[in-house]
Amino acid sequence: MNTIHIALLGYGTVGKGVYQTIKNHQSRFKALLGSEVKIAAVLVRNIERHHLPDQDVLLTTNFEDILQLPKLDVVVDAIVGSEPSFTYLQAAIKKGCHVITANKEMFAHHGGQLKALADQHQVSIGFEATVAGGIPVIQTLNTLLNINKITKLEGILNGTSNFILTKMRQEDLSFADALKLAQELGYAELDPTNDVEGIDAFYKAMILSQVVFGEQPQWNDVQRKGITEITAEKIKLFSGIGLRFKHVACLEKTETGIKCSIKPVLVSQTHPLYQVEGVQNAISIDADIVGNIAIQGPGAGMFPTASAVVEDFIHLYNPIQSTQYQEAQKKKAAAAPINWIITGEGLGQFKANVPLNSVKVLHPRVLLASGVEEDFANYVKEDPKLEYFQVFGEVNLLGKSKDNKIFIKI
Ligand SMILES: NC(=O)c1ccc[n+]([C@@H]2O[C@H](COP(=O)([O-])OP(=O)(O)OC[C@H]3O[C@@H](n4cnc5c(N)ncnc54)[C@H](OP(=O)(O)O)[C@@H]3O)[C@@H](O)[C@H]2O)c1
Repeated sequence: MNTIHIALLGYGTVGKGVYQTIKNHQSRFKALLGSEVKIAAVLVRNIERHHLPDQDVLLTTNFEDILQLPKLDVVVDAIVGSEPSFTYLQAAIKKGCHVITANKEMFAHHGGQLKALADQHQVSIGFEATVAGGIPVIQTLNTLLNINKITKLEGILNGTSNFILTKMRQEDLSFADALKLAQELGYAELDPTNDVEGIDAFYKAMILSQVVFGEQPQWNDVQRKGITEITAEKIKLFSGIGLRFKHVACLEKTETGIKCSIKPVLVSQTHPLYQVEGVQNAISIDADIVGNIAIQGPGAGMFPTASAVVEDFIHLYNPIQSTQYQEAQKKKAAAAPINWIITGEGLGQFKANVPLNSVKVLHPRVLLASGVEEDFANYVKEDPKLEYFQVFGEVNLLGKSKDNKIFIKI
């Protein structure tokens, strides 16, 4: 079997997430690509701080060692800052490697140059992880851009700021106390400037602008304001009239060029960003054919970001999903048990054709059971007093039937 060799630049939050994800998903890679995927080397700054779980992976502080690897197909960039990342990725592209980056600062500055270089060397660049972590916003935009024209984009692109604003409102905290909490929980750096002053969101907005409009606005023309001047009093005042502060990056193409702002705004209940709370990110996209689409999810973190990197990786390799794989997936989906709520009079005679241990009592008149729809459809058909509903999401179990028996007193 073929092996695809990857070098990982950086072994911090993102690097470790990518390493583990690749290691733990070999069967998926094999099914999708017909190849094994191997991390061949990891680049760090302070070698003494790191220990890799696998002995055969090279750990180095010297990028030349990476370039000298006998087999190298993809370089994943999970280091910090424009340099040396830009220099390293240029060298990797020139060597004929595909590159994937999570480094938004570098990509906002040099994305255009890297893309041109990659085209010249016929390799690809993945950068999904640079914007909104685990949310597939770049893929979504690329899919929409075929016939739709995107007219406006509004996004909560920094989870730390959103967390701080949420906590200030929900727990009546000052900015300083909410920031301290974010730091204690690991959501904010010791130096939070990039997050709370909107610099991180600015880089992400520039990358989005490049994707959506093919160019960035003049950086000096962008209105950038952080959240440091938002007080608990202002938050309270506005939430009293149904408005919430959100730190929003807004991109719009006007007749005079691209208009971009990154600033705190007041959002009402009718806007898709109103419900986006805590460290979540979200992007609201207005396009001329489809209308408004809003996507929300984890904007940072070890595995959400690793998810974006490995999905980019699969796209680079243009997956040929084998018929065998697709059939196996279909069978798996068909066989997967679904949760159902069964409710109504007469639960005492519940005799659906499902394993007894899959039935839980939530309430004397409410059972939670898992199985395939036919089991419940046949059962309920015989008794018009009963109804069943499919359950989306997790259900908090309040109790269990004794001895897994399903005879319930009503
Ligand atoms: N954290 C997230 O949730 C997230 C989400 C999306 C995107 N990103 C982006 O992903 C990148 C990595 O973020 P992170 O949170 O994983 O950072 P991190 O935890 O600080 O880790 C950075 C890693 O890069 C290494 N490194 C830094 N500069 C280097 C250099 N000049 N040469 C070699 N290695 C170097 C560090 O090595 P040492 O440990 O030896 O110092 C460390 O292993 C950043 O560009 C960030 O903006 C992060």
